[in-house]
This record gives sequence, structure tokens and C-alpha cells, in this order.
Amino acid sequence: MSVNPLRPAELFDGLRLHQNENTGGCSPRVLDAISRMARERVGFYPAYAEMERVGAAYLGVPTERVAFTNGLDEGIMALCVASLRSTPGGVAPEVIIPEPTFEIYRLDTDVAGGKVVRVAPRPDYSFPLPAILAAMTPATRLVLLTNPNNPTGQLVPKEDIRTIARQAPAGATVFLDEAYADFARETFLAELESFPNVIIGRTFSKAFGLAGLRIGCLIGAPDRLAPVIRALPVFSVNVCATVALPAALADRAYLEDYLRQVDESKQLIYSACDRLGFKYWKSGGNFVFVKLGDRAAELVGALAARHIYVKDRSREADCAGCVRISAGWVADTQALVTALDEVLCQVPR
Ligand SMILES: Cc1ncc(COP(=O)(O)O)c(C=O)c1O
Repeated sequence: MSVNPLRPAELFDGLRLHQNENTGGCSPRVLDAISRMARERVGFYPAYAEMERVGAAYLGVPTERVAFTNGLDEGIMALCVASLRSTPGGVAPEVIIPEPTFEIYRLDTDVAGGKVVRVAPRPDYSFPLPAILAAMTPATRLVLLTNPNNPTGQLVPKEDIRTIARQAPAGATVFLDEAYADFARETFLAELESFPNVIIGRTFSKAFGLAGLRIGCLIGAPDRLAPVIRALPVFSVNVCATVALPAALADRAYLEDYLRQVDESKQLIYSACDRLGFKYWKSGGNFVFVKLGDRAAELVGALAARHIYVKDRSREADCAGCVRISAGWVADTQALVTALDEVLCQVPR
């Protein structure tokens, strides 16, 4: 059996705070809706009209401006495949990636034959606008931005997005990954019509707890989306996801409860870090980036021994000593803080 090397270890025996998932899962209405599905529907290729209508209405855009995908991951891969065809004269198409960020951008760029142009972070991880503008060349095909950024939780100022979209070379697409926008309660969606070279990515994995069903989308001008849609497998969103999405979107109380808990969890993590003397960055997402220092790997291991998993990014460039911790349901965060206290007592400096 082959194992996808991009797939993180399957850790189902404890508290998963390493992938920014909603550990409480989806709204109960989602499973109700799936269980009420007629048996024949599983025998047919999926129909998308209703899901597209409800999903587009939630986003506040016409259906022709949205392409639903098998998770946003699939949308990002299709975007790279569609955008990174070789250029005349053999110049490698360039992809600007401000790092640290979602690791998949680098992998998808590589698979699609593009050249990664890395933009290094500022010391405080604030958005590096001047360096991004300086990195643009006529060979730039994609600029991949994440708002809020994963793993730092930093926001991208809207004016910076506008500036990049205005200055991007003809033919380049500015991709704005809003996987965590529900938590930040801000989006660039309302400005898309003014910036036809911007495509926004959204996922229903995080705030709506549908990661296991794989549903996300790309939003943009129909002529920008068309080549990306051609790079998507025809029926890539499965029938359970088509039923799940409208049910999840209808349960606003469940969403609001989770968003409230995320806010409270972030405060708990900030307080614990203040008390324990760890640096952290205030986050717009459902996670917090924390500098545990030179003991990071050891502390991550000690938490894992207690079946609490956090994401160790301490060995990456410009992330020395840093880990990313999901901040979701308050009970989970309390368990994390308790375990961190215990571990620190047992692993003195
Ligand atoms: C920034 C960012 N974009 C996209 C994704 C992928 O989302 P999906 O589960 O919809 O594939 C993630 C998942 O962690 C992410 O962090």
C-alpha cells in the first residue's frame, strides 16, 4: 500500500490540535441530512445545483462566480495546474509565496512546474508588502496570499491586497486564501468585482467542521475561473458533501457557538503564554503561533506522549522554536493548558 507523503500522521487517539480542525465536528444537522438521503442518490453521480445556489448565497456572490471543489486543497492544485503552464521562451512561471505559510502552496507549485519565489517574513510576521512588490517580475503567474495567515495568524491589510492586485503583471492571478476568514470576520469578497485578477479560496473544513467531507470553493470572475475549472475533475465534490453543505450553512447557532469558543480559547492560550513566559502572536484564525524556544521539539513530544498533538514548525526557516496550536472548543484548550503546565513542571530548564 502506498502512503501519500504529504498526508500528516493519522493521530486519532487523542486531542488533535495540530491541523486547525473543528474537534467538535460538524453541526448535528449535517449527519441528519446525510442519513435522510435517498439510497439511489449514492448510485448516481452528484447533482450540484442546490449546493451551488445555497453556497453562493452564503458567500453573497452569483453562482457563476463560484467553483466548488473537493476541499480548498483541490482548488489550489487546480489553480496551480491552470496557471503554471510553461511560458514561451522557456522561462519558468513564477509563484510568489510569502512564508511561513500553508506548506501545500510550495508543493503544488512544484507539481505544476512553477518556480517558488519565496518572500521572507518580517521579524514580527506583519505582512511584507514591499518585499512582495519587489518580487514581482513579468514571469509572475501567481501571488499566493493567506488572510489570516497560517501559521502566524497575521492579517493582510485590505489596502495591501488592493496594491498587489493593481501592480501584479498582466496575466498573473492574485490568490487570496480565506480558509480562516470566518474566524477573523473579515473578507475581500465584496471587492472582487473591482479586482478581476483576484481569486478567493474558502473552505468549509474549519469553521463548519466539514474537513472529512472535503468541500471548499474558489470565487472569482468567470473568465478567470474557467481555466481552473477545466483543471478540476468533473465530479470531484461527492454527494455527501453536496447534502452536508446546505445543512451546515443553515445551522448558524452552531457556527456562532464555535466562533465564540475559538475567541475564548485564544484568550486562554494568550494568558497561559503570558504566565509561562512564551512569546505568541495574536491570531485572526482558530490557532495561535507560539514561540516555545529551543525546547519546542521536546515539549511537542512530551505533549504527544499525553496524546495532545500540536504542530511543530520549529525547524522551518524563520520559525525557530515556534509551534502552532489549534484554538477551538474551550474544554480542549483547558486540557492543553493543563498538560502544558504538567509538562513544564516535569521538563525543567
Ligand atoms: C491556509 C489554508 N488553505 C487551505 C487549506 C485546505 O483546506 P481544505 O480542508 O478545504 O482542503 C488549509 C488547511 O489547513 C489551510 O490552512
